[in-house]
Amino acid sequence: MNASLFDDEPAEMPLAPGATMLRGFALAHSAALQAGVAAVLAQAPLRQMLTPGGKLMAVWMTNCGPLGWVSDRRGYRYQAQDPVSGRPWPALPAAFAELAQQAAERAGFPRFEPDACLINRYLPGTRLSLHQDRDEQDFSQPIVSVSLGLPAVFLFGGLSRGDKTERLDLQHGDVLVWGGPARLRFHGVMPLAGGRHEELGEQRINLTFRKAG
Ligand code: SIN
Ligand code: FE2
Repeated sequence: MNASLFDDEPAEMPLAPGATMLRGFALAHSAALQAGVAAVLAQAPLRQMLTPGGKLMAVWMTNCGPLGWVSDRRGYRYQAQDPVSGRPWPALPAAFAELAQQAAERAGFPRFEPDACLINRYLPGTRLSLHQDRDEQDFSQPIVSVSLGLPAVFLFGGLSRGDKTERLDLQHGDVLVWGGPARLRFHGVMPLAGGRHEELGEQRINLTFRKAG
């Protein structure tokens, strides 16, 4: 039984030490988040980056905030400029920073100040293979991941690539936070199932907030 059945607070589910699912946490901010995404994409359009091996990544990506995650022939890194425009990444919309901070705090990481937000777009069939987020300087800060649009099956593994993975169903408005002992857990996304979300259409948008620098 969960107290949130009886009030308006979103449910908070501890998954493992350092990892928390905040079901529906972003729902109240959905319109502001979508407006923020549209504003960012107008300045820094989604693009398919190249893997260091020279393959096009399936997920379409862009960034906002002081630092953006990029991948190309030279490898993975964070940088202040969008390589497509040569300009700084768009600023973090106020609604983004606020939501990320509140979610982190709720999951036990107060004072989270993200300096990078990666925006990922998945179309039906798009998957993201198992990986760790380890291009950041400071692993003491958590990852805050916000799901919008079509639902996805998130694979949440352990600290070694071969560890068993748990399948988490991520719906529009869900926020997943992992940090502390869970910070370097492997994770990925199963191929997106087809469908149509009433607000976002045939896609899933994921916002990943990190303290990168
Ligand atoms: C990521 O690991 O960068 C994205 C995860 C997701 O789309 O849920
Ligand atoms: Fe990741």
